[in-house]
Amino acid sequence: MIKPSLRRAGRALLAVGATAALAAGLLTAAAGTSQAATQGPCDVYLAGGTPCVAAHSTTRALYGAYNGPLYQVRRAVDNATRDIGLLSAGGYADAAAQDSFCAGTSCVITVLYDQSGKGNHLTQAPAGGAAGGPDNLANAFEAPVTVGGHKAYGVYVAPGTGYRNNNTNGIATGDQPEGMYAIFDGTHFNGGCCFDYGNAETNNLDTGNGHMEALYFGNNNSWGSGSGNGPWVMADLENGLFSGVNRGFNANDPSVNNRFLTAMLKGGPNQWALRGGDAQSGGLSTFYNGARPNATGYNPMHKEGAIILGIGGDNSKWAQGTFYEGVMTQGYPSDATENAVQANITAAGYHSGSTATGTLAPGSRISLRATTAPCCTSHYLRHDDADNKVVISSTDSSSSATDKADATWIVRAGLASSSCLSFESANHPGQFLHHYNYELYLDVDNGAGPFAQDATFCPTTGNSGVGTSFQSVNFPTKYLRHYNYTAYIASNGGSNSWDSATSWAADTSWLVAQPWG
Ligand code: AHR
Repeated sequence: MIKPSLRRAGRALLAVGATAALAAGLLTAAAGTSQAATQGPCDVYLAGGTPCVAAHSTTRALYGAYNGPLYQVRRAVDNATRDIGLLSAGGYADAAAQDSFCAGTSCVITVLYDQSGKGNHLTQAPAGGAAGGPDNLANAFEAPVTVGGHKAYGVYVAPGTGYRNNNTNGIATGDQPEGMYAIFDGTHFNGGCCFDYGNAETNNLDTGNGHMEALYFGNNNSWGSGSGNGPWVMADLENGLFSGVNRGFNANDPSVNNRFLTAMLKGGPNQWALRGGDAQSGGLSTFYNGARPNATGYNPMHKEGAIILGIGGDNSKWAQGTFYEGVMTQGYPSDATENAVQANITAAGYHSGSTATGTLAPGSRISLRATTAPCCTSHYLRHDDADNKVVISSTDSSSSATDKADATWIVRAGLASSSCLSFESANHPGQFLHHYNYELYLDVDNGAGPFAQDATFCPTTGNSGVGTSFQSVNFPTKYLRHYNYTAYIASNGGSNSWDSATSWAADTSWLVAQPWG
């Protein structure tokens, strides 16, 4: 049972928020109030007559007066849980509470609390018609950002990760009107079905056309697509991702890849609209505004009122993406209200988190050059042709595009610790360098605690005095090493052949180089 007291608190806060928003305008509360200094997006929706009935965020309060928990984390070492709240009412997440609770272990996000007072919390999604379950939970460290200058963490959805609530309160059903927005990482997506946030079936099955109304983000073009190669914001209305009036190609839905992306969807009787914009600045563009699709089932709609995050209505769970905040409303918000919400979002101050400096900053593409002379100074760390083991091999400008891409890594905040790093394959998104039996492999982040630990490396000054060494976070005496052209984690002398002290310092020292791919 999740915090029944939230419901009471939320109702009181709604009243406070409504009064403040109406009296003081959409963005700033009356001077001198002892409560929150600013309004949240849900105060804006309330003032517009379309109150939030679900409000989820791991980064900030979505009401100026909200002062409850944002989310819950669970740590691997003892399965203990901790609610992560706010630095102050109406403010930003207390990320330091997560850092200290999860120190030395790994954490997953177990609950996204609903700030609306309706009790529409999101928890681990169960099995569905398309895929088994329960789904994985998001690694709590994998999406670091700053908001208003404060450190916070988003919800990093690797394929297989999903959240759901099938027993909601106040969410639109049937043809009832609703609105919703979400802030996503516009650079983290894939073509799998379906990275969604919004209204879905209550039984985890595909129950037919029109039984969903959710925001989709990615470059899946099986049902619909827009201009360019994607990714696109589309509407998942069930058995179709809609980029415009009907299935298929709709030129007015642009490719959008803002680092922080505002995506908006609203739907009512025979009308719906899709809008989007840069969550860091500027306004919204309207990608579609018009009638319901001309196909059986979509007019009238048959919305069921569950809420999903990261998956399709039938638990299709092959997609990836990152979620920072999102809400669902009762009623069809006006464009003016949505524009004011976008102003609130851009004022919040989302920025990329940085837990390292220089070229090892999360998000950077790099290649790692071996430093051992004379054998290996033209060799780079790469996954092998089978895309499974990790080796070093000679790479230069005449190497094939595949070989170059195989030797290219995207630096990520450490899956198990944001003060360390993980390395995602540039040509196999979602797959990370990790050790198993001390040998290095490339595999999908399965969201489990042990994988996160095995995929996290802490950069240190190179053991030979040159470049950088990468210390295993869970075997701190062992460092990323090449030995016989294969990659391991190795200690300086030990029981395995690759722990050989000969050349250990050079073999564990790497130059961070320009990316080949
Ligand atoms: O509409 C696209 C997807 O189709 C839905 O999310 C899922 O339920 C079905 O497989």
